[in-house]
Amino acid sequence: MKNFEFKNPTKIIFGKDTIPKLTKQLPTEAKIMMLYGGGSIKRNGVYEQVKSALEGFEVIEFGGIPANPEYDILMDALKIIKEEKVTFLLAVGGGSVIDGVKFLSAAALYEGDEPWDILAKSIRTYKGMPFGTVLTLPATGSEMNSGSVITRHSLKEKRTMGGPGLFPQFSILDPQVVHSIPKRQLANGIVDAYTHVLEQYMTYPAGAFLQDRIAEGILQTLIEIAPRIIADPTDYEAASNFMWSCTMALNGLIQLGVPTDWAVHMMGHELTALYGIDHARTLAIIAPSHYRYNLEAKKEKLAQYGERVWNISEGTIEEKAKAAIVKTEEFLHSLDIKTTLKEYTEDYEGTAETIAQRFVDRGWKGLGEHRTLAPEDVEKIVKMSY
Ligand code: NZQ
Ligand code: ZN
Repeated sequence: MKNFEFKNPTKIIFGKDTIPKLTKQLPTEAKIMMLYGGGSIKRNGVYEQVKSALEGFEVIEFGGIPANPEYDILMDALKIIKEEKVTFLLAVGGGSVIDGVKFLSAAALYEGDEPWDILAKSIRTYKGMPFGTVLTLPATGSEMNSGSVITRHSLKEKRTMGGPGLFPQFSILDPQVVHSIPKRQLANGIVDAYTHVLEQYMTYPAGAFLQDRIAEGILQTLIEIAPRIIADPTDYEAASNFMWSCTMALNGLIQLGVPTDWAVHMMGHELTALYGIDHARTLAIIAPSHYRYNLEAKKEKLAQYGERVWNISEGTIEEKAKAAIVKTEEFLHSLDIKTTLKEYTEDYEGTAETIAQRFVDRGWKGLGEHRTLAPEDVEKIVKMSY
């Protein structure tokens, strides 16, 4: 196991009917901006619950943050935050709203002239404006981590940011919010969390037995609850396990002391930037090809995953590793998630070259757990995903 340091300051309030607890989490003198997405919270009762918890506080609302939070819209919110001297941000939504609020938390206290630099120049945030979240969609883990992904349509860019100053102060996780989530988003949530685990697990053995077992436990739980939650999002037992699995998949715990990859996400973000494909679906397109292309480097962990998660007992390490990739694809298909690029766009020729070139233009650092994947490798992996 590698050395590590760990601090996750986010307070989690989990369970049925927990949204009213919001009142006690907020600083009494705060001037609050409550931010949300396209309106799902107004149709499922979350908005009313949050508003009644905010009674007596000074609150400005900012709605309309789209999926893949858009920089230009967030800049409108930033202007209001500055003009109105807002002191606390409250995200009510899924990963997109929470990520948008993280950008605003950083940008509100940023001293440079151009907030886009936080993303374009990977400027880490050590102190942001305090914020909390009410999660409405289990998927990203953003409710308990310090990362964010922001889109800027005018540049066709989707970039990541983060830093220790960007953990939510608290996150309220009431699994009853899952009731109203459409099937497409439920499947996306399962696949996003599943891939988060794979990114931190599918590398090489590092002698971190507990981290491996926790990671495998999250995968097994997601596999177990997936058909239940798709069939019936009001199944509270399935919803609560779904929600907590998604949070645990990306709150820092399973990456401690182990190598991590994240190449699937880096390539996937480019597919969203170019074609607007849902985040989780880009991962489903890239992951099988990435694991096939890197079979030699990853075969031991692939085989371990095959044995422990999919009960594959026959064959050599290579055969088990390959069978595990097939099982993963079958799981994705069982959720009605397509795993090739041409099933999402007709316009796919040249995508691999474009993505490889973008990585070169940004200053190539090397991808994968060994940071050895070169632009040529990315090009081949993306081509395999067509
Ligand atoms: O906008 P509204 O009307 O609220 O509708 C949303 C949106 O259309 C809807 N929704 C959310 N909660 C609902 C609901 N509909 C009905 N009932 C509810 N309870 O779902 C749609 C998708 O929401 P969004 O927030 O975009 O989904 P998700 O949570 O999957 O977030 C995706 C974004 O997070 C980033 C992705 O790249 C993408 O931009 N990620 C963030 C990460 C992080 N910060 O750690 C890690 C991830 O790997 C990911 O990259
Ligand atoms: Zn993800």
